[in-house]
Amino acid sequence: MNTARRIIVALDFDTVDDAQAIVDRLGDAGQSYKVGLELLTVAGPAFVARLVGEGKDVFLDLKLFEIPTSVAGAVRAAGRLGATMVTVHAMGGSTIMEAAVRAAADFPQLHVIALTVVTSLADTDLAAIGLSATIEEQVTRLARLAQRAGCHGVVASPQDAASLRAELGPDMLIVTPGVTLQAGINGTTSEHARPAHPTAAIRAGATHIVIGRSLTRAPDPAAVLAHLEDELGKLRAHS
Ligand code: C5P
Repeated sequence: MNTARRIIVALDFDTVDDAQAIVDRLGDAGQSYKVGLELLTVAGPAFVARLVGEGKDVFLDLKLFEIPTSVAGAVRAAGRLGATMVTVHAMGGSTIMEAAVRAAADFPQLHVIALTVVTSLADTDLAAIGLSATIEEQVTRLARLAQRAGCHGVVASPQDAASLRAELGPDMLIVTPGVTLQAGINGTTSEHARPAHPTAAIRAGATHIVIGRSLTRAPDPAAVLAHLEDELGKLRAHS
């Protein structure tokens, strides 16, 4: 896989025009995009279909947590749209993850990626919802469950990437948000608990990084992406 496809640009925008403007500015350098619930809700599936039509990889971040039939239906819809990744909450258990994996089997390009614990949560948040495990224990437990259910990968923070790579072996995809190029760029404050640089995430074993505001809100997003591709390319050349 080329380096560009490993860098997933999060299109966290509330208008199609703003999202399309970034896609246009990145041009051929932008190969992979994440469309989340905000943009999908305002833009609808047509925007996703257009990206796919332009040859882009689309990570449809649906964060599915539903009854198995509904999860399977949503995964099939994502597959028909041409998405390459779709997310399902591992917290929902094996049955919904297995339903998602079975539904994705008809779409060879589609990978089911399990969310473990969202990176903004702390141990106290788990206690508040009645879980006695630490974040670390819960992440490991859910990642194992996702692998046993047949998921193709997991979403993980940069801090968890190394231990999960050791835990899950070489084949699972590890998709890592919570990366930033520099804290507080353009006045955005990151709510990531502990942001890390993308190179650190890839070194730790991530196969993909998700980068949002520190790229999309930069004065010259194309220059930031080109620099990042260059850095990650060098890293892989030396590994
Ligand atoms: O912070 P940034 O704009 O780079 O976020 C990009 C993506 O990372 C978001 O779309 C969100 O899904 C994910 N994210 C996350 N945990 C956070 C913050 C963002 O998984 N604490």
